[in-house]
Amino acid sequence: MKIDILTLFPEMFPAVLSAGVVGRAAERGLLTFSVTDIREHTTDRHRSVDDYPFGGGAGQLLAAQPIFAALQAIGPAAAEAAGGLPPPCRLIYLSPRGRVLDHGLARELAGEERLVLLCGHYEGVDQRVLDAFPFEEVSIGDYVLTGGEIPAMALIDAVCRLVPGVLGSEDSHREESVYSGLLEYPQYTRPASYEGLDVPEVLLSGNHREIELWNFEQALRLTAARRPEMLRSWAAAHLSTLDKKKKALAEAVLREL
Ligand code: ADE
Repeated sequence: MKIDILTLFPEMFPAVLSAGVVGRAAERGLLTFSVTDIREHTTDRHRSVDDYPFGGGAGQLLAAQPIFAALQAIGPAAAEAAGGLPPPCRLIYLSPRGRVLDHGLARELAGEERLVLLCGHYEGVDQRVLDAFPFEEVSIGDYVLTGGEIPAMALIDAVCRLVPGVLGSEDSHREESVYSGLLEYPQYTRPASYEGLDVPEVLLSGNHREIELWNFEQALRLTAARRPEMLRSWAAAHLSTLDKKKKALAEAVLREL
């Protein structure tokens, strides 16, 4: 997958794109990142990228010209999309008024060959950018950040871990398992007793089936308590695939909702 990032703050990205799981996947050639500084594409001699909104209103808007120029510069893909051809890539504008990013959207985006992420600043962007190019607006949650860079990083992390080959086999197996869509059950590591706090007995039993059922029930109960709507949509997708014992556990928790 190739990801282009259009930003006023290119210096924010190298650490995030080169560290951890994402950085390793980039080293292995599974992911390619290209960061474009919008300011490099101004024609204005003061290199200004923003201006006041027509009709008044607070703050400044990102102007159309440098963004049009940056999109043309990253290649014909984005420019063609503007001409109404089937977009060969997804264009995403990070914005608090967008569709809220969730696991479903992350999965969908992980199947794309190319993403172009536009990071907004100031009070937004000249609407002509969003009208001329088939931008989808994506938010990372109902709160407002000072710019789209951190949202772009969150999206990159959530999407890239789902690109085939990026996660190790154990993690990707888990991603496709019955646990996907439930909150994580509590986990413990050594020692079995610490400061008088003991690890639940069942986890020390060595009985794999009992442990599996206990973990499953913990995940169900935690999800029911914190995110009941998430449990309902998980149940709609997974209930019929469960073995008898797990199904009985899930149905008992669902009845208590
Ligand atoms: N830019 C500012 N706030 C944002 C948010 N919550 N999501 C995406 N982009 C943003």
